[in-house]
Amino acid sequence: MSSDKLGSKGGGGLLGGNPLSLLQECFACGVIVVGAHKRIVACTAEAAAHLHRDAAKLLNAPLSSLPAPLIKLIQETARSGKPILNREIPLGQATALRASILPVKTGEPVEIVVVLNSLTSTPVFEQNLRRLDRLASLGTLSASMAHEIKNGMVAIKTFVDLLAQKGQDTELTGVVGRELERINAIVTQMLRFAAPNRAAFTTVRVHDVLDHSLRLMQHQVNGKLITLQRHYQAEPDTVRGDDTQLQQVFMNLLLNALEAMGTNGVLTVKTETVQDERSARQLRINIQDNGVGIAPEYLGRLFEPFFTTKKNGTGLGLAISQRIALEHHGMIHVQSDPGKGSRFSLSLPAFTGA
Ligand SMILES: Nc1ncnc2c1ncn2[C@@H]1O[C@H](COP(=O)(O)OP(=O)(O)O)[C@@H](O)[C@H]1O
Ligand SMILES: [Mg+2]
Repeated sequence: MSSDKLGSKGGGGLLGGNPLSLLQECFACGVIVVGAHKRIVACTAEAAAHLHRDAAKLLNAPLSSLPAPLIKLIQETARSGKPILNREIPLGQATALRASILPVKTGEPVEIVVVLNSLTSTPVFEQNLRRLDRLASLGTLSASMAHEIKNGMVAIKTFVDLLAQKGQDTELTGVVGRELERINAIVTQMLRFAAPNRAAFTTVRVHDVLDHSLRLMQHQVNGKLITLQRHYQAEPDTVRGDDTQLQQVFMNLLLNALEAMGTNGVLTVKTETVQDERSARQLRINIQDNGVGIAPEYLGRLFEPFFTTKKNGTGLGLAISQRIALEHHGMIHVQSDPGKGSRFSLSLPAFTGA
């Protein structure tokens, strides 16, 4: 452990609409193949489990052994020859399945492939995918918005330069010119921020990236009474990842912690190796502050794009960070005590290979 005063020393696819993406991203899904004569010719164990049926009994069984809403969809596809995608079917007692019915024309009559996904067993995965999807489109949206803004600004800048050349109100044109530069810088930064480059995965030493991030935010701390406590306990501290993106996550979490503490407080950065529920080794990085904390009603919204409680906040820091965490097969969790502080934990799969 080390402790120093920074201030004083200066120092979650399935959402896609096409059958291919549906199959590619199929996660724990069940598959049933309905052959000619409306009999089940193949059925995976997952499909039987989703339907609460015995797989052996479903094989060669007539269509009528499936739940009625599913039969209806299969008949619809058999009639129209068209796929039905991502249709929710109720199974009673608060369980529901999402079914996609795909006709396969290998001969006559048409065979039908049914892909089943539980809507109730993978809510977290589902939510993450949705969030990831929303963020991906957010990135695209911001990138095209930034592009349009930049285009518009070229015209304005040309006009202002022209006015300046003509010697008309040079003071005002100077002000406008400087503001334009500022907007340009913000838009450029936004482009970089909202549409990060494709991840380049290497073996990353997390402690090095953390130290580098702490050095980078040094100037945010100068003049404040912030105590930094480092407890680097993860051994080894290696993960597979993109160091630039991981640094972006650390910076976002560290800056949020500083902003939550104001002019004085204790910032604790801790790493540890833990085992997840499937006994896989995880590296956990905790960034804790004793700042204002987070009201319980906001906890569920922190990772939403544009959610901010700050006057000049963008509400993008945590959203982007969670997206990066998910792309690293990890996750950010938060715990907070209003008035006492917050702890953000990033878990990443540990990597010990060469
Ligand atoms: N360490 C923290 N302590 C208290 N609130 C936090 C902390 N980190 C994040 N938040 C809350 O989450 C919101 C979203 O954070 P973020 O996505 O980084 O956007 P921004 O910092 O621009 O507001 C913040 O506005 C704040 O309300
Ligand atoms: Mg932030």
